[in-house]
Amino acid sequence: MGITYGSALNIEQLLALQKPFSADPVHDELQYVIIHQCSELWFKLLLHEVDEVVKLLGAGDCRQAARLLRRCVQIVGVIDQGFSLMETMPAYEYARFRPNLMGGSGFQSAQFREVELALGYQRELPLEQPAFTEAERARLGARRRGPSLWDAFVGAMRQCGYAMPDRAPGGGADDGGVAGAGPGAAARPDLLALRTMYQSGAHPDLRDVSEELVALDNAMLMWRTHHAAMAERAIGSKVGTGGQGVAYLYRSARGRCYPELFEVRTLL
Ligand code: HEM
Repeated sequence: MGITYGSALNIEQLLALQKPFSADPVHDELQYVIIHQCSELWFKLLLHEVDEVVKLLGAGDCRQAARLLRRCVQIVGVIDQGFSLMETMPAYEYARFRPNLMGGSGFQSAQFREVELALGYQRELPLEQPAFTEAERARLGARRRGPSLWDAFVGAMRQCGYAMPDRAPGGGADDGGVAGAGPGAAARPDLLALRTMYQSGAHPDLRDVSEELVALDNAMLMWRTHHAAMAERAIGSKVGTGGQGVAYLYRSARGRCYPELFEVRTLL
């Protein structure tokens, strides 16, 4: 027989990967493993799409970039749905196998950190995890060198003739404030460039890209918020298996990848 469904998609290998981590696994453990593994697969696809969008923006193809960004928004929505499934596991069931996780936590997901770097999320990222492998560290190093999705968007703005400046290094995205443009915003070169791009309507495909970045940022914020609420329901104020906890998740959830795109709204 030639190629089959199972051989083309490596189904046998895939289905062998859901190993329980408890010696005496409880019922809800399989769901816990599968949701995490699925999330990692979706992170992989998200990175694949973001990399392509960066290339498309570099080549000036904003129309295709906007199309793939719409896909990215949907992918984050699908990952978010994993939390709704997780919420069918009551706290007292989770408590039965949580101790067997030891120090294992999504906090150690190298791919999630890659996603943050690839999107251009600026914050003090806990990048130095002892749990990371050498290969993971190498991938994170490459991501740090960029270009990020934000860098590519700035490049596309310039290609279209808008004088978009570089971001100030270390401009924190998780300051917890609403991204309202403060006093002096009308004189900020980045916001002026964005306002002109939005109001002139001269580059509708670029404007679509910008709106998809806004949608992606909102989808990430919803994911982070849902994660925090789900985790609070599952563990209350216990210390997280990664050493942080729910308060850390709520703090992270206030951050924006693209605060400028929200600030400019005040000027429109
Ligand atoms: C019962 C289910 C879950 C609970 C109670 C939970 C709880 C937590 C907590 C408390 C943290 C903060 C670090 C720590 O102290 O460990 C965290 C981080 C994280 N978790 Fe979860 N989580 C759950 C499921 C998931 C799932 C399904 C994913 C999907 C991949 C995930 C991904 C992450 C990521 C990426 C971080 C790092 C977030 C950041 O640094 O901003 N978690 N989780």
